[in-house]
Amino acid sequence: MTALAAGGGLIAIGGATAFVMNARDLSGYQEAVNATWRHSDSTDLPPSSAQRELVRYATLAANSHNTQPWQFRLSDRSILVLPDSRRRLPAVDPDDHHVFASLGCAVENMVQAARAFGLRAVPRYDPDERGIRVDLEAAPPERTDLFDAIPHRQSTRTVYDGRSVPPEHLRLLEAAGNGQGVRMLLFTERKQREEILSYLVAGNSAQMDDVAFVEELKSWIRFSYGSALSTRDGLFSKSSGNPVLPDWIGRLILNLVFTKEAENRNYESQLRSSAGVAVFVSDKNEPAYWAEAGRCSQRFALQATALQLRHAFINQPVEVPAVRGQFATYLGIGDRRPDLVMRFGYGPELPRSLRRPVEHVILRT
Ligand SMILES: Cc1cc2nc3c(=O)[nH]c(=O)nc-3n(C[C@H](O)[C@H](O)[C@H](O)COP(=O)(O)O)c2cc1C
Repeated sequence: MTALAAGGGLIAIGGATAFVMNARDLSGYQEAVNATWRHSDSTDLPPSSAQRELVRYATLAANSHNTQPWQFRLSDRSILVLPDSRRRLPAVDPDDHHVFASLGCAVENMVQAARAFGLRAVPRYDPDERGIRVDLEAAPPERTDLFDAIPHRQSTRTVYDGRSVPPEHLRLLEAAGNGQGVRMLLFTERKQREEILSYLVAGNSAQMDDVAFVEELKSWIRFSYGSALSTRDGLFSKSSGNPVLPDWIGRLILNLVFTKEAENRNYESQLRSSAGVAVFVSDKNEPAYWAEAGRCSQRFALQATALQLRHAFINQPVEVPAVRGQFATYLGIGDRRPDLVMRFGYGPELPRSLRRPVEHVILRT
């Protein structure tokens, strides 16, 4: 029996079991999604409740493998956003670049949400704390398109429809994606997508050959509604367009069908169906700049969402050091570090990921 036939058989068994489980767990999952991806009932709140809501909005940000590697320390007029070292990813992210980029994504959501709550949020990296201090000042309340987009944003890992984005919308994306010490490069030509694809395939091939990378990734995949609901973190199969299965079957099938060739083929069709690629490049290879790159990518993602565009990170070209160097040469950015890579385009919505409750990420002082 070939591996694929065995995989097919297991998918059939898994599918039948999943059908029974789905009926029980689907409604629980949907309830959790509805409770997670929502706007606050009110933006006119006393300071302590407003701060809690700002943290909730922050947790809705993109973050590497959905580990949610953040903690928040609240004080009178500021919120300190700190890395949670228990949730780092040593194989894919040995220097914590993605941890700080994820903190930056969370901070950007906080900045956008603060305005709606009548606050101005001013973030700055604090090297003594190794975190980002967000100072809060009173300001006239303002509800922006980017704020409205926060609960609608998602990483959409599927094939898009190939349509291109009108120039006036590209200009809005460009305005959103640049920051202090971080520049965004935008690629919309077919030839450029093919060139970037070669770095994506090189990075993905290296990662699929790396046992530590694959084991780490697998440990964060949640195959069933039950495991996604109990941890409220990680990569839910269904959010990547894969079937929901009992976890033991999911892990078995993954070993059979998750191959370098299959993944490379997926990335080819995903990138070729996209309207373009954004690459975020910081001036200095330091945590403060990694966080700023995260902020820019999150702002870009919110602006894309506000324009009804989908997006997904394709970071393989920047995660494998040897490929990252070649990619930097292709980009013509000298010795600067390309931080993050994102594709965008028009496509369907996929089922959503979950987040841990706010109480789990607020530090008691
Ligand atoms: C720094 C960083 C790196 C990421 N890298 C990838 C990636 O290479 N591939 C991918 O599909 N998603 C990547 N993501 C997206 C996360 O997996 C995603 O944000 C997380 O699973 C939560 O899902 P959501 O964005 O739909 O809320 C990355 C996110 C961040 C912030």
